[in-house]
Amino acid sequence: MNGLSKTPFARFYACQPSQRSRTLTDPANIIEFQNVHKSFGSLKVLNDLNLEVAPGEKLALIGPSGSGKTTILRILMTLETLSGGHVMVDGDYLWHEQKDGKLIDASETHLHQMRSEIGMVFQHFNLFPHLNALQNIVQPQILVRKTAKAEAREKAMELLGLVGLSEKADHFPHQLSGGQQQRVAIARSLAMDPKIMLFDEVTSALDPELVDEVLNVLRKLASSSDTTMLTVTHEMNFARDFADRVLFFDKGQIVEAGKPEDIFTHPQEPRTRSFLSKFISVS
Ligand SMILES: Nc1ncnc2c1ncn2[C@@H]1O[C@H](COP(=O)(O)OP(=O)(O)O)[C@@H](O)[C@H]1O
Ligand SMILES: [Mg+2]
Repeated sequence: MNGLSKTPFARFYACQPSQRSRTLTDPANIIEFQNVHKSFGSLKVLNDLNLEVAPGEKLALIGPSGSGKTTILRILMTLETLSGGHVMVDGDYLWHEQKDGKLIDASETHLHQMRSEIGMVFQHFNLFPHLNALQNIVQPQILVRKTAKAEAREKAMELLGLVGLSEKADHFPHQLSGGQQQRVAIARSLAMDPKIMLFDEVTSALDPELVDEVLNVLRKLASSSDTTMLTVTHEMNFARDFADRVLFFDKGQIVEAGKPEDIFTHPQEPRTRSFLSKFISVS
């Protein structure tokens, strides 16, 4: 597993949130949320959030429903605007651009370009119903990345192999189970070679017997890929295997963050303990 020995990662543990840089971007980080606020009307969803992610790190975001986890992923996917603060992705402002030495709101062109580096898999599979599994993975490569057809097909077959679906290449979404559709959706995202992958409760819409096949694909990805990955999940055993670092959110703030073995066995904060006790036994 990568990320553990990297400097920003080590520094994260060394510093309390209040001591971390609030204005300067560390060029080594692939993601930084700097004093981010997000409100929907009068509802404050993110409250002065600071978060640093090292390249290749695998993060699990856990916490009660409504705590702002999806909002964080949607901001990174440029599906939600910021109410305040800054987000940096791979050294660039995500929601802002620098012009004549000033920071201005990002143009649609900038957002489009930034978004192309990020892949997201949602609760629902969103496959194109009129395309088979292979075509679902081939088409975006041709349309968005301008990849040659033969190369796109080759990569799609490789990725179908990775998610254990080589035999189902010519099946249409309605001929696949929910778990298989979700695995195709994961392969489709990977085909775009994103720098960052976001997974939002990707098994929560699945029948229980189909959950493991999808989580096992993600476990395999986490241990074999250098891509930075953020996953929101309620599957605590999976989070423990998947993540280099677990973040427990409540009310739009990080209550506690640490290595899975620490968070899951010795949570420090009463709110973390109370939340986790609904899933696992904690000391
Ligand atoms: N587009 C929206 N308009 C209004 N409220 C929203 C919107 N999106 C999310 N919310 C609210 O923001 C809060 C945080 O939502 P979310 O980030 O989805 O939480 P989580 O993923 O942790 O369950 C919730 O109270 C939710 O109802
Ligand atoms: Mg959510």
